Amino acid sequence: MLNLLKHPLITHKLTQLRRKETEIKEFRETLGEITGLMAYEITRDLPLKNITVETPMGTCATQELARDVVLIPVLRAGLGMVDGISNLIPSARIGHIGIYRDHETLEPNTYYSKFPDNLADAVVMVLDPMLATGGSATAAIKFLKDQGAKTIKLVCVIGAPEGVRRIEEDHPEVQIYLAGLDEKLNDIGYIVPGLGDAGDRLFGTK
Ligand code: PRP
Ligand code: URA
Repeated sequence: MLNLLKHPLITHKLTQLRRKETEIKEFRETLGEITGLMAYEITRDLPLKNITVETPMGTCATQELARDVVLIPVLRAGLGMVDGISNLIPSARIGHIGIYRDHETLEPNTYYSKFPDNLADAVVMVLDPMLATGGSATAAIKFLKDQGAKTIKLVCVIGAPEGVRRIEEDHPEVQIYLAGLDEKLNDIGYIVPGLGDAGDRLFGTK
């Protein structure tokens, strides 16, 4: 199911990210800030458990997060989203999956993976700023399911309708979070208007 996160600050910062004049430092900082703002909504349904703590004034019946959170950035561009969430959930463990799209076929190739134990009990958040054809995200989600993950959220920044449809078809139980839903893909699989190549803009490569 698609959750399109509309908030004035998110929209404002997304505009900054899209501008072609935005240079590497600002791009990196802004991507992190957007992810941090999105975290508020992404974590809204995390379960809590009852605990008691001692305050300086006495005993307080309160609650804390009941489930581990695991962040899975899709290399490379997903790395730019890790700090925005892990700053808010410092206990989150982080796994990595390396996937790149073949430039000719647009098919995803998985070249690296390393995950924390016990994915089955965790809320797993797949991070990748761009959901274009959806090939990379669906491959990452399938890979994680094969490793035992049961609760998976897909956190992207900009999506194309094609990518959203692909995830909804392949993984209907996965919640998808976007800051912007764009018009279409162009004939080489880039999101239009999008922001260009997220990995290149984040790391200064071409
Ligand atoms: C980009 C992006 C996604 C993928 C989206 O990565 O970060 O992972 O493309 O496209 P899709 O939805 O059509 O699969 P890319 O393949 O450019 O890898 P890179 O970040 O390593 O350059
Ligand atoms: N990957 C990107 O980085 N940008 C796009 O527009 C599509 C895929």
